[in-house]
Amino acid sequence: MSESATANRETLGFQAEVKQLLQLMIHSLYSNKEIFLRELVSNASDACDKLRFEALNNSALYGDDSELRIRVSFDKAARTITVSDNGIGLSRDEAVAHLGTIAKSGTKEFFTALTGDQAKDAHLIGQFGVGFYSSFIIADKVTVVSRRAGLESNQAVCWESGGEGEYTVEMVEKASRGTDVILHLREGEDEFLSAWKLKSIIRKYSDHITLPIVMQKEEWNQEKGEQVVTDEDETVNQANALWVRGKSEITDDQYKEFYKHVAHDFEDPLAWTHARVEGKQEYTQLLFIPARAPFDLWDRNARHGIKLYVRRVFIMDDAEQLMPLYLRFVRGVVDSADLPLNVSREILQQSKDIDGIRSGCTRKVLGMLEDLAENDKEKYSQFWAAFGAVLKEGVGEDHANKEKIAGLIRFASTHNDTPDQTVSLADYIGRMKEGQEKIYFVTADTFNAAKNSPHLEIFRKKGIEVLLLSDRVDEWVVGHLTEFDGKQLQSVAKGGLDLGKLEDEEEKKEAEKAADEYKDLLEKVKAALGEKVKDVRVTYRLTDSPSCLVSDEHDPSGNLARLLKAAGQAAPNVKPILEINPNHVVVQRLKYEEVRFDDWAALLFEQATLAEGGQLDDPAGFVKRINDLMMAISAK
Ligand SMILES: Nc1ncnc2c1ncn2[C@@H]1O[C@H](COP(=O)(O)OP(=O)(O)OP(=O)(O)O)[C@@H](O)[C@H]1O
Ligand SMILES: [Mg+2]
Repeated sequence: MSESATANRETLGFQAEVKQLLQLMIHSLYSNKEIFLRELVSNASDACDKLRFEALNNSALYGDDSELRIRVSFDKAARTITVSDNGIGLSRDEAVAHLGTIAKSGTKEFFTALTGDQAKDAHLIGQFGVGFYSSFIIADKVTVVSRRAGLESNQAVCWESGGEGEYTVEMVEKASRGTDVILHLREGEDEFLSAWKLKSIIRKYSDHITLPIVMQKEEWNQEKGEQVVTDEDETVNQANALWVRGKSEITDDQYKEFYKHVAHDFEDPLAWTHARVEGKQEYTQLLFIPARAPFDLWDRNARHGIKLYVRRVFIMDDAEQLMPLYLRFVRGVVDSADLPLNVSREILQQSKDIDGIRSGCTRKVLGMLEDLAENDKEKYSQFWAAFGAVLKEGVGEDHANKEKIAGLIRFASTHNDTPDQTVSLADYIGRMKEGQEKIYFVTADTFNAAKNSPHLEIFRKKGIEVLLLSDRVDEWVVGHLTEFDGKQLQSVAKGGLDLGKLEDEEEKKEAEKAADEYKDLLEKVKAALGEKVKDVRVTYRLTDSPSCLVSDEHDPSGNLARLLKAAGQAAPNVKPILEINPNHVVVQRLKYEEVRFDDWAALLFEQATLAEGGQLDDPAGFVKRINDLMMAISAK
């Protein structure tokens, strides 16, 4: 940071990300100018919440002013709009830290995700949340005068910036606690210098703010023939907590605006649920499912979306104890009637009450998803595309709700043969063949690898549906979900092929005969491959391919072993079983091969490895073997 100080005035440079954000915002949000007021009011409200929370242990912080409120005013002549609060305020150091840098988790990732394409970036920025900096959409200079609660009147700070690369800070006098944010409007933004305009924006975006947002009343002055400002205040918003009102008193638009406030989202939510719970614990929950995934969805440490209130008093953001990790995309509010007001994160971690609220909220969200899945398939598929892979984590994480979560999961399958994940386990079971006892699946690195897996050949031939799993989390899912609705889940690439009653007696006999006939060959192949395989056996899974790899019933699948390795985890060194197709010409020919037997055997193993998405130990050796064989053939 560059630093040049005069008496007590310092000029400092913004963090590089702030500069980038300011540029981007001014260019991409001009059609959405009015959000600056929502952001400033939201910050003022947060500041009051923070004061109320700190004052629980130190009521002296209130001084003689305990009526928390937010004030919006404007000055036509000076062309300024001011948003003031009597909340916690900022010290000089805090002003530098909070208004000169962005401290959000995932900031780096956010900036690398930017494309330079304005439309796309405008959408991203909506997810990121522009906060305080949105002031610069309509202002070419912003002045913040703030005094931290508990500090003397001469310890206030004045922060000022033109939103380019720098800002100044200076110690000043301020008579009262809290923050004034003064916007000096850009040319052409005078439409905001109107009480009517400002009030309508406040009602639109900030009606649900629990503190009064006041403005000076205007009155019609007959003599002047215009509206004039009076000394009397009026409260512009409803100023009561939205979630406390009855459902019938809240419009959909109010729910949506509230969502945008708690979730810092530009878009409407996909769905919400609002309920007061009575019984052992008494609490109100208002929970939303966003329409899109936030940029930091995959950061399991990213902030969570639930705000905790106790009897309408804000306690904390980001109360991760209130929602399991696999529902980390849920946003909203929980207001408890029973918890103590001075509850801390440490207390939350051990609280039985919180456990109860958490499982109540979890059930509520899962219920809402079940309802969507049942009654609004389009919305559910939108949900699934955004958050499906996260929800899947729940199968292993939440034992109590495993069956429910499994019912919500959607898969790709050979029924449609497209990558769209639309098939539920119930759909699958409904289509099971007469005599079919198991739910079959294959896991692979990509959809195409799954879809074209040689292990599916027999299933395709017999018309048995197989689920095609290619999300990273899928191995975790099938590791924890061994059965659904009494039906076992079975990998088609594991253990001996067991089609149960779907097996054909004829085929079985033939396979046994083949196993006998090929006994010597199997031994020879096994000897040629040595340590690479656990066993070599005759298969009847294959119709078109000469060979495939399977893992032993209790060994991890090849795909899982590769995932573990890629994640830098110690993968158990398990060897696969090579299965060869006795009906394939290559295998039949091998019976009579003498000279190049070892090469042929190695190729059977290597192509099976490649076909299931594995990597070869010695790719150059493989290429050489292929070329040698091709030359041998063309020489004939
Ligand atoms: N009125 C205010 N009083 C006290 N501190 C404030 C005020 N406005 C902003 N701040 C401080 O500046 C920080 C940055 O505000 P900004 O709105 O950019 O981000 P945020 O509110 O933390 O997150 P977001 O608005 O994206 O949810 C706040 O976290 C807070 O510490
Ligand atoms: Mg903010």
